[in-house]
Amino acid sequence: MKLLRRIFFFAFALVNGLLVSALIGNKSAPVVFAQEPESAHIAPFVPTPHEVVDRMLELAALRKGDLLYDLGSGDGRIVIAAARKYGVRAVGFEIDPQLIKESRDNIKTAGLEDLAEIREEDIRTVDLSPATVVTLYLYPAANLRLRATILRQLKPGSRVVSHAFGMGGWKPDRVETVRDSAGLTRTIYLWRVRGP
Ligand SMILES: C[S@@+](CC[C@H](N)C(=O)[O-])C[C@H]1O[C@@H](n2cnc3c(N)ncnc32)[C@H](O)[C@@H]1O
Repeated sequence: MKLLRRIFFFAFALVNGLLVSALIGNKSAPVVFAQEPESAHIAPFVPTPHEVVDRMLELAALRKGDLLYDLGSGDGRIVIAAARKYGVRAVGFEIDPQLIKESRDNIKTAGLEDLAEIREEDIRTVDLSPATVVTLYLYPAANLRLRATILRQLKPGSRVVSHAFGMGGWKPDRVETVRDSAGLTRTIYLWRVRGP
C-alpha cells in the first residue's frame, strides 16, 4: 500500500512538472493563434502587357514634375516605362525579393537609376501622399483595401490608373478597353482625385 502511494505520488509529480515546464519554462513553445495572420502578399505576380502599360501611362497624362508610384511593381516595367518615355520620377513598391532584384537590375540595364527606383515596402502601409500618379494591377479586394488610403492621402489633381479592376463605389472618370498582343481584351480604369 505504501509502495502504491509512492508510485502514485511520483507519477503525479512528474506529470505536474512536465506541464509547468511546458507552460512556463519553455519560452520557445509555439503560440497557437485562433486565426491565421493575413498574408502580406495581396496579389500574385502577373505582368501587365507592355502595350497596356503604354495606354495606362497615356491615360495618366504624365507631365513634368509628376511622381508615379506603382503599387506592387513586379519586374518594374511600369516604373521603367514612365521614367523612360516621360522623364518623370517613378517608384515601385514590391515585397517579393526575387522581383525586387530583377526590377532593380532592369532599371540599371535601362540606365534609369536617376529617375526610377524600387522600394522594398508593403503597399498596405506605404505613405502615398508624395505621389501624383498611382498605378495598380492587383485584385478587386486589394484595390478596395487601398481606396481609403488613396482618397485620404493623394492631393487633388492626382491620377489613379488601374489595370483590370475597379474601386467599388468610387466611380471612374474613364474606362477603356485595350486589345493586347495575344488578342485578349484588357480594361483600364482612370480616376482623378478631387478636392474635399
Ligand atoms: C499583378 S502583379 C503587377 C505587377 C506590375 N505592377 C505590372 O502591372 O506589371 C502584382 C504585384 O504586387 C506584388 N505585391 C503583392 N502584395 C504586395 C504587398 N503587400 N506589398 C508590395 N507588393 C505586393 C506582387 O509581388 C506582384 O509583383
